[in-house]
Amino acid sequence: MANENYMDDELLLNARKPEGELGDKLIDNMNENHEALAQWSLGHLDISKDDLILDIGCGGGVNVERFLKMTENKVFGLDYSKLAVERSVELNKLAIDEGRCEIIQGSVSNLPFESDTFDIVTAFETVYFWPDFVNDLKEIHRVLKDDGIIFIANEALPKKYDKRQKHIIELLDMNIYSQYELEDSLQKSGFKNILSHVKESKDSFTGDDADWICVIAEK
Ligand SMILES: C[S@@+](CC[C@H](N)C(=O)[O-])C[C@H]1O[C@@H](n2cnc3c(N)ncnc32)[C@H](O)[C@@H]1O
Repeated sequence: MANENYMDDELLLNARKPEGELGDKLIDNMNENHEALAQWSLGHLDISKDDLILDIGCGGGVNVERFLKMTENKVFGLDYSKLAVERSVELNKLAIDEGRCEIIQGSVSNLPFESDTFDIVTAFETVYFWPDFVNDLKEIHRVLKDDGIIFIANEALPKKYDKRQKHIIELLDMNIYSQYELEDSLQKSGFKNILSHVKESKDSFTGDDADWICVIAEK
């Protein structure tokens, strides 16, 4: 008999790299459930009309869509999942056709952009899965302009004795970083003026208590 959590786990597995029918379903969930995190965290970020923005791990592309309304410049999204790229393209088709948006399939570890390109690079709910955090941050540092901004928003901080979190970490083979680990990794990658904001909230999937964090730092 199937484990009663079987479906949940199969669905959650797609958070690392959405694929197939369940990946599609998870992207629908993420587009809806990550809205509150995006709205809260972006309240801490100044965006101006001419900022050139890259959203890494763009998933279903809702934050790309949001940035297109906040700037007059071009917005880029990048994800290593083919399905996420397809969904982001679908959502932002008009802006793509107008030449205001590009969605690219690629990895954070090897960004297909020239050095000193972007004003802002964002990462919502994705750093948990990056293969080599400090080096991946260095790659972002490379593509940012001088004084460019990196912005990280996570819906999870480590909870030492939480069985559900432990299960999810093992299931997804992910890293949930503490505020100290995020700030220390940013510093090791060459970032300065690092500022974090934390909010007591709820996990958007389970409804459990969860601390949200956003970290902003400058090249
Ligand atoms: C949990 S989803 C978050 C999606 C979206 N940012 C949101 O907030 O709804 C994580 C996304 O990061 C992408 N991702 C994970 N590791 C990546 C990597 N190394 N390079 C590029 N994208 C990655 C996944 O494919 C997935 O779409």
